[in-house]
Amino acid sequence: MDLAAFRALEPLCWRAPSAHNTQPWRLRYEHWAVTVGWDPADALPAGDPTGRDLRLSLGAFVETCLIVAADAGLRLDWTADHDEADRRVGRLRPGRQPYRTPFRAADVRDRRTHRGRFTGGPDADVVAAVDAVVRRAGGAARVVPAAGRLRALLRTADRRVYAEPAVVAELRRWLRLDRACPRYRTDGLSDSCLGLGRVAATGLRAALAAYPALRPLGLPRLLAAGDDPLARGGGVLALIAPPDLDAAGQVEFGRVLMRAWLTLHSAGLAAHPLSQLVDVADTRDALGTLLDVAPERIVHVVRVGRPADPAPRSARRVQHRSSLLAVTPLDAVSLHP
Ligand SMILES: Cc1cc2nc3c(=O)[nH]c(=O)nc-3n(C[C@H](O)[C@H](O)[C@H](O)COP(=O)(O)O)c2cc1C
Repeated sequence: MDLAAFRALEPLCWRAPSAHNTQPWRLRYEHWAVTVGWDPADALPAGDPTGRDLRLSLGAFVETCLIVAADAGLRLDWTADHDEADRRVGRLRPGRQPYRTPFRAADVRDRRTHRGRFTGGPDADVVAAVDAVVRRAGGAARVVPAAGRLRALLRTADRRVYAEPAVVAELRRWLRLDRACPRYRTDGLSDSCLGLGRVAATGLRAALAAYPALRPLGLPRLLAAGDDPLARGGGVLALIAPPDLDAAGQVEFGRVLMRAWLTLHSAGLAAHPLSQLVDVADTRDALGTLLDVAPERIVHVVRVGRPADPAPRSARRVQHRSSLLAVTPLDAVSLHP
């Protein structure tokens, strides 16, 4: 396989999801393989101190590369080779046959995180399909009863997150609330993706700018109370990993997460992660009790449903080049907003 052909598809691979849309992956092309690594500048040391979401995002990227390559008829294999010191998770290399996957490049292109209103949650068949995907990797997908208890846990998690100055400072660095910001169209979380109107975006910017002064006066509580995603409908799923997941296992589980999200997408549903429930030890423990599972096995919690309206497309640092047209049937114009 000609790695140059894969390089031409790389912009589409960048449609993979990542926490805070930091796009931490980096590809190193050698003549016989492409090493997948990460840039620590795009990690989230305050919000994701263990690197769990970093590794899930890297795994989601790897799965996306395999899907995109397979859809273009390229024979690409993945060899995991996690090395923290070299900041790499493994290598993509020419294989004997295309990666077997039910997903297409168009799914990668069209999938979006959806933080808005859902008209309904996943039915039993969709839950079973996602569960089957996760079970094949030794885990499970479980419905979290979205009653008052979950709402209270979410409120607690949000309050704890907003109470941490380092986490808030990091979030501010990745928020793109000003359309004039040069990075508005390249990375981070935009006002439109967060579903914030102009007034709400301005209010949030002002509140976060005044955070040091307002924190002791209860700003974290106010910020936490300002959003109630569960009121926007859908169901909530917890992705449960196999026991004793190490760093390399988290990358592999990121691939599972991607397959789970694309399973939802194929069924006309979308995902809205609620990672704060996993980030905060107390709420993760409470979820563990609720689901009768060891809390450390809960690695991802996500609100899931049928979008009432299409979600805005998130930004990417790498844009498509016209050469993409030569190797993929996708309409390159529709790849970007
Ligand atoms: C591991 C992981 C954790 C995430 N956690 C959250 C989260 O807690 N809240 C949220 O709104 N989005 C979360 N996201 C979604 C990302 O913000 C989103 O993927 C990114 O902004 C790119 O947008 P897209 O998914 O529409 O392409 C997470 C994504 C990943 C891969």
